[in-house]
Amino acid sequence: MPTMMSFSTLSLRALLLLGVWHPGRRSFILAASFQEPPKNIAVVGAGIGGTAAAYFLRQEFGPAVKIDVFEPDAVGGRLATVKIGEHEYETGGAVIHPLNLHMKHFIEKLGIPPRKDLPSKMAIFDGKELVFEESDWFFVNFFRMLWRYGFGFLRMQMWVESILDKFMRIYQYQQFGYSFSTVERLLHAMGGDGFLTLMNQTLEEAMIGEGFSQVFINDVIAPITRVNYGQSVRVNGFVGAVSLAGADSGLWAVDGGNKRVCTGLLYNSKSELIPARVTSISVKVRPSKKGNTISLYEVNYVGESGSAHSLYDIVVIATPLHQGKSDIVFSGFSPPIPSHYSGLYHQTVTTMVHGKLNVSYLGTSEPASEFTVSDILTTDSKGCAINSLGSLDPVHIPDSYKRPSASHTTVWKVFSPRPLSQEQLQQMFLSYSSMSETPWLAYPAYRPPHRKTPPFILHDRMYYLNAVEWAASAMEMSAIAARNAALLAHHRWHEQVGKIDQEDLHTRLRGEL
Ligand SMILES: Cc1cc2nc3c(=O)[nH]c(=O)nc-3n(C[C@H](O)[C@H](O)[C@H](O)COP(=O)(O)OP(=O)(O)OC[C@H]3O[C@@H](n4cnc5c(N)ncnc54)[C@H](O)[C@@H]3O)c2cc1C
Ligand SMILES: *[C@@H]1O[C@H](CO)[C@@H](O)[C@H](O)[C@H]1NC(C)=O
Ligand SMILES: *[C@@H]1O[C@H](CO)[C@@H](O)[C@H](O)[C@H]1NC(C)=O
Repeated sequence: MPTMMSFSTLSLRALLLLGVWHPGRRSFILAASFQEPPKNIAVVGAGIGGTAAAYFLRQEFGPAVKIDVFEPDAVGGRLATVKIGEHEYETGGAVIHPLNLHMKHFIEKLGIPPRKDLPSKMAIFDGKELVFEESDWFFVNFFRMLWRYGFGFLRMQMWVESILDKFMRIYQYQQFGYSFSTVERLLHAMGGDGFLTLMNQTLEEAMIGEGFSQVFINDVIAPITRVNYGQSVRVNGFVGAVSLAGADSGLWAVDGGNKRVCTGLLYNSKSELIPARVTSISVKVRPSKKGNTISLYEVNYVGESGSAHSLYDIVVIATPLHQGKSDIVFSGFSPPIPSHYSGLYHQTVTTMVHGKLNVSYLGTSEPASEFTVSDILTTDSKGCAINSLGSLDPVHIPDSYKRPSASHTTVWKVFSPRPLSQEQLQQMFLSYSSMSETPWLAYPAYRPPHRKTPPFILHDRMYYLNAVEWAASAMEMSAIAARNAALLAHHRWHEQVGKIDQEDLHTRLRGEL
């Protein structure tokens, strides 16, 4: 259609001349001049990654494309709640950083409010006693930290802030439509060689290199990596920094449960939810109208009504391709795509207990009625069977709600690497009326130096989000990977290679916003 072509090229040039063309919002006119838009897209998995991918794919490809999202279990994946008594409680991904801009954008777009904020109080348990207990007074905490660790505490905040500053660059790149073909390139675009080095070192090595003391790392840093990733300070430096940012103030959650974002995004993207498990994906080559050949992806799946298959132009895999997480067979690909990449997922068991805490278990002599600590972290010591213990607020906080002290029966959440035994529970709780246990294969077992991360691009038009978890696993990381995959899918479909893997974006975009 030559007339259409010249019209759209003309209008593009006119827009560029007028300076009103926003590369962040590429027009569909431009896209149409290269190739017809795709007709069918499959997304495998309806966690935050898959549903965010559906949302961003809709944004990139417009209203006509059909988007199917496959999910055999509950929408939300690792964002899930359990009901205890009258209320729901988060069992998986719980807190969101104030600078997680995609998550923030989602709730604004979907009109879901953040959960009401309640003050919290932290303590650190070494398996025998509480070695640190936060005071209600900021200055008391400040001087206690200063007394024990000198300026280590302030320096830590500065270090994390400098990493976060670089991390934030990704939002500008994505706004301008830039995408990356691998986790390494994405990290490099954000933080240069420094970020790649962080990926290759343990957090401990990185922090010792920055001059932090071993005592500070053991006493303060280890409890944070343990509560956030169930692992020691030997995780990679990048996920370690993400973990430390997760100890910032201003953390938030979604009112009614974080998984609401997933159902909201599915609805907003007008995609179809197919309640089925994808079993295999293969490439089919078909002759096209124009006389050449086109390849399509055949997605085979099993649902309640049996097995079936459908053909797609583009596929986005939004579940980890690892042992115990999914078993998808990829057939007919060259080079072959494995069902499982190397590397394991780490187990964290969430135990929710509705009961009365045994405060003496924590080695404190405070009476339970005065014990108002909400978050108990733990040091990396032999005696510690748990990663953390916290008094848990429901996903929706009624106006009249006040967090009860430890003398009341309330809901506690315990993270541990293994299920808690009957004896352990009886030690920790004076009594309990209900207990629910969720064993998660929660996030990667981080063991730097890092082998090669799985790619974002599995095949011509097949993309993989969860490679990003090997840098760090978090809701926002999945959302960033989802936007990246949607941009990649768009640019590769329309052969706009100038928007992929560009070097030095930070300097080039300086002054653009
Ligand atoms: C205990 C715990 C605490 C956490 N705390 C936090 C936190 O405080 N803050 C934070 O940001 N992050 C946290 N995380 C991490 C965060 O939850 C994850 O990084 C994020 O939810 C991953 O989302 P995802 O969509 O990429 O993957 P998932 O949520 O795992 O979604 C993948 C989906 O794919 C589906 N699936 C699997 N195989 C197939 C198949 N063959 N066909 C179709 N569908 C399939 C699965 O059923 C699943 O629903 C925590 C995780 C856990 C487990
Ligand atoms: C990370 O370490 C591995 C193995 O030691 C090495 O092969 C790789 O080049 C390193 N990568 C970076 C970016 O330093
Ligand atoms: C409470 O914990 C203490 C210290 O671990 C223990 O000695 C005691 O037996 C526990 N109480 C109950 C009722 O289990």
